[in-house]
Amino acid sequence: MNSTPDEETLDAALTLIHSRQHVSPKRLGDPGPSAEQLELILGAAGAAPDHGRLNPWRLIVVPPERRALLGEAFAEALSERDAAATEVQKQEARAKAARGPFLALMVLRLDPALGDAHPQERIISAGCAIQNMLLVAHAMGFGAGLSSGRSLYSQQLRRLFALDAHEQPLCFLSVGTVTGRKPARPRPRTSDYSSTL
Ligand SMILES: Cc1cc2nc3c(=O)[nH]c(=O)nc-3n(C[C@H](O)[C@H](O)[C@H](O)COP(=O)(O)O)c2cc1C
Repeated sequence: MNSTPDEETLDAALTLIHSRQHVSPKRLGDPGPSAEQLELILGAAGAAPDHGRLNPWRLIVVPPERRALLGEAFAEALSERDAAATEVQKQEARAKAARGPFLALMVLRLDPALGDAHPQERIISAGCAIQNMLLVAHAMGFGAGLSSGRSLYSQQLRRLFALDAHEQPLCFLSVGTVTGRKPARPRPRTSDYSSTL
């Protein structure tokens, strides 16, 4: 890498950034990323800014053989917050865990023992890591999306992923082949979010 202006690189970066869009896990099918592609996607996360080099987040991949366990956690979390939840609703909750060939949970590590970086800095680092992965997946031709939902914050999910008291689940990341997509959302204008002091 050097600092010579390189229009091709700039064009490629801008095209990649502006053409990325959220793809719902329900619109992500096989094939998912190969082991080599996954290594590149996960490797991009490690290139995120990380003040103090704390590694203030971690990713937990949910392989196919663990999806049923996650589905059960979703269904139990639903039953706990809504005692009137029907079997159909619980089945829908279970089905969410099966969507998308690649699924991982992004976890924020807030343990003060890691170092001095404020929680905000740690969240930003995690967000940058997520965006890096979204962009690399998109550059490979995959669709990718983030999902949260109320079960994300449940005790069932904390238990399944063995989160410690200082850890917070941030969101799920799904990657796969796009089977359908919604129209891209209009982006805000720069004047909507920037001003001058
Ligand atoms: C932390 C986080 C959690 C998200 N969770 C969901 C979700 O549960 N369901 C969903 O449809 N989209 C979810 N999204 C995706 C946003 O809805 C999406 O990024 C937004 O609509 C903007 O669209 P774009 O990414 O195509 O620009 C989430 C995004 C973030 C950053």
